[in-house]
Amino acid sequence: MAPKSLVLAALLTVVVAAGQVTRCAGLGASPNASVVISGAVPCSTGNNINVATAPAFPNATVQFMCYGKAMAGATADSSGNFVITIPGASRDQLTAIMSNQCNLVVTTPLAACDASLAGASGKLVSPMKFLGITTGSGGGGGDLGLGGIISVIIQILTGILSGILNLAPQAFSLIP
Ligand SMILES: *[C@@H]1O[C@H](CO)[C@@H](O)[C@H](O)[C@H]1NC(C)=O
Ligand SMILES: *[C@@H]1O[C@H](CO)[C@@H](O)[C@H](O)[C@H]1NC(C)=O
Repeated sequence: MAPKSLVLAALLTVVVAAGQVTRCAGLGASPNASVVISGAVPCSTGNNINVATAPAFPNATVQFMCYGKAMAGATADSSGNFVITIPGASRDQLTAIMSNQCNLVVTTPLAACDASLAGASGKLVSPMKFLGITTGSGGGGGDLGLGGIISVIIQILTGILSGILNLAPQAFSLIP
């Protein structure tokens, strides 16, 4: 199947259109969907940091932001791993996610994980990676082609299907 970045790019147009259609026409029940974001925070500077090789950032505070507004957050564990869950995500939140308007921002300064990085200014920020969808009826985004994913997303946005959107950070970069 197509790479996930292409999936997200293609979803942008379709889902925004679907969101607007449902909003304008007032069609569809409220979505019954959750969003689960899981990943690891690196203790490092630079661009597109590889979490597999970078040291971990224990206890980092991570915020999930859409259109620059915090939607949810979590604190990483002692290995830098975090999970953010948004139960009952709204149609606006789901549309923002699928149109790639959300990112992850680490609000804890890097000096907290490595004193030698105290001079680094900026925040670790990552765009989102779409992992797949688990639907209430047992279907899975992982095995669906692009057309299947779009169809499932539209059914979730219009409240026909319940589902869990699984996301992860693409890669953190230090943004001044
Ligand atoms: C992370 O938080 C735990 C619990 O508050 C604490 O015991 C631990 O020392 C912290 N680790 C670091 C590296 O700050
Ligand atoms: C929402 O989805 C969950 C899990 O699929 C299901 O158990 C629950 O009944 C649904 N709630 C509504 C109001 O449809």
